[in-house]
Amino acid sequence: MFVPVSKPFLDEVEINNVTEAITKKDISGLAGTFLPEFEEGFARYCGVKYGAAVNSGTTALHLAVAALGIGKDDEVLVATMTNMATFFAVLYQGAKPIPIDCEPDTLNIDTKLIEAKITSRTKAIIVVHLYGHPVDMDPIMEIAKKHNLFVIEDAAEAHGAKYKGKVVGGIGHIGCFSFYSNKIITTGEGGMVVTDDKELIEKCRLLKNLAFGDKDKFMHQALGFKYQMTNLQAAVGVGQLKKIEKIIERKREIADYYIKHLSGVKDIILPVEKPYAYNVYWMFNILLTGSLSGKRQVLMSKLLEGGVQTREDFVPYNEQEIFLKEGIVEKDSCPVASSLYSDGLYLPSGTDITEEELAFVVDRFIKVIDNLK
Ligand SMILES: Cc1ncc(COP(=O)(O)O)c(C=O)c1O
Repeated sequence: MFVPVSKPFLDEVEINNVTEAITKKDISGLAGTFLPEFEEGFARYCGVKYGAAVNSGTTALHLAVAALGIGKDDEVLVATMTNMATFFAVLYQGAKPIPIDCEPDTLNIDTKLIEAKITSRTKAIIVVHLYGHPVDMDPIMEIAKKHNLFVIEDAAEAHGAKYKGKVVGGIGHIGCFSFYSNKIITTGEGGMVVTDDKELIEKCRLLKNLAFGDKDKFMHQALGFKYQMTNLQAAVGVGQLKKIEKIIERKREIADYYIKHLSGVKDIILPVEKPYAYNVYWMFNILLTGSLSGKRQVLMSKLLEGGVQTREDFVPYNEQEIFLKEGIVEKDSCPVASSLYSDGLYLPSGTDITEEELAFVVDRFIKVIDNLK
């Protein structure tokens, strides 16, 4: 038996949509009906008015930062525990990202640490709803209001997660999603920005397609990007959107199974669901502690040998060698993230995992860690 970390959930709905797009020859980022249908449908799902689909979560983040007018000499406060795409988006614009440490349980941005890092140059906060658990958004929105900052939500891993009943991505000024193949819903590669702000979405739409001129097409209005999602990808997205609730339900069932069978196991910390949260458990993340701390690599290798694929947690910004070498970040600036990240890994969490496979994963995991203790 081999159980992968995840596999996308695709069926004849996506196949038929893609076939339709190809048959009609509507394959670009400007042609066809699947694109507007996906943008409108997904924005509505997030509880906001507008969506602009792009070709990745990374480009969604860059587009958001650029459309908000963030550039050289600006600072942006960013959750340190994330995929580095979140930080790259700020760096692409020549602005300076300032890492903020994480909470030890959710690994999300620690809202108590934000205000101390605000300067006259700070323009925005980027929060990341890590592994599907929503960030505590009320303090974020209060701080942003008080200091006149934009809030960008990186919801790449948290489609459908809710904060006090509100779908994430639609709470801040702009939300960014990824539809990479391992995400809650996928278009292979892809992304989207969502917002209630008409002016902002118009700026995003302009910038994501080379900022072509109004009257004279090739007299460009700004330094634009080529970040379009194709109608072919949107055809997949429209199919996926129909299944999103089913996918989330399954993710939560998988999490329930792991929690039921792994609670009480010594020296591991399981994911939480705070009282304000509806966690979509994108991936079931575990932290090793006590006698297991420092043994992640050997654990992962042994699990893989036995047919269970796992993946290690992100390396936080303040531990990234390229930035440490450049001297643009200090290693000890986020001690909680530094102390935890190398002990984090996630278990297979694909929606098609069977009960037999779940039992197999739990059995292998317990046996391997017992041998390591
Ligand atoms: C938190 C987070 N932000 C951004 C990204 C970038 O998305 P993409 O891979 O679609 O560019 C990812 C994921 O892969 C992610 O997990």
